[in-house]
Amino acid sequence: LASGDFEGVRVLVTAGGTREPIDPVRYLGNRSSGRQGVAVAAAAADRGAKVVLLAANIDESVLAELRDRPSVRVVPVGTAAELESAARAAAGGAEVVIMAAAVADYRVAEVAEHKIRKEDAPGQAPTLRLVENPDILVGLVRERRPGQVIVGFAAETVGAGRGHSEPDAEDAAFPGPGEEDPAEELLERGRRKLARKGVDLLAVNAVGWNAGFESAENALLVLDADGRVACEATGTKRAVAERLLDAVRDELRALRH
Ligand code: C5P
Repeated sequence: LASGDFEGVRVLVTAGGTREPIDPVRYLGNRSSGRQGVAVAAAAADRGAKVVLLAANIDESVLAELRDRPSVRVVPVGTAAELESAARAAAGGAEVVIMAAAVADYRVAEVAEHKIRKEDAPGQAPTLRLVENPDILVGLVRERRPGQVIVGFAAETVGAGRGHSEPDAEDAAFPGPGEEDPAEELLERGRRKLARKGVDLLAVNAVGWNAGFESAENALLVLDADGRVACEATGTKRAVAERLLDAVRDELRALRH
């Protein structure tokens, strides 16, 4: 298990999902459990790494996997803004950054100071104005230190897994180039995201209503900076984490030689 190939390597992992407040009791969130990122943190620690885990709203039962691992420091964060400042503070001291967190693309423009109450505006549903959050990963890539390996994640819904309805008639009648095959579509979306983010490795996984986010199992396709498939891994989130770390180790070695 502990092969020691990350001995002395400092790894920053982000996991979970950010929550963007609407008012003091409500938020916009997502279904990320943080399990895949926690599995990466545990696996890296078991291979000798010193790990900082920025945990965005991860359930205690999920974090329990990290108990008895003194080489993992867990830092709780809530919003994308909190995750961003914690990530920027910690990234400088890490040789490896793995951004597994599901970061909200938007936050609420004006957070209500008091609970929004139906009684205050009978019959009038409120409208939430949203503003875009900065892309944390792109910022970390821009400020990267020499030799640092940065890994992004991409959770994509493709093909029949898109939403919970049947593909609409227009999609079925005019499939775009490379969009007939879900695996091909996943690869294409992954390559476009890779180019946009400028990361060294991109871990692409298909998520749907029944796969990925809340389940114990996962399937990942890892692309390298040239868009080549560095590895494909299916299995428990721990097994997938080990394969991802193999690819990270190979990148670290390539950078050192
Ligand atoms: O563009 P998309 O959200 O699919 O990109 C996913 C990757 O980018 C993940 O690694 C996620 O942690 C990161 N991300 C980020 N800041 C955002 C949105 C996503 O760092 N605002």
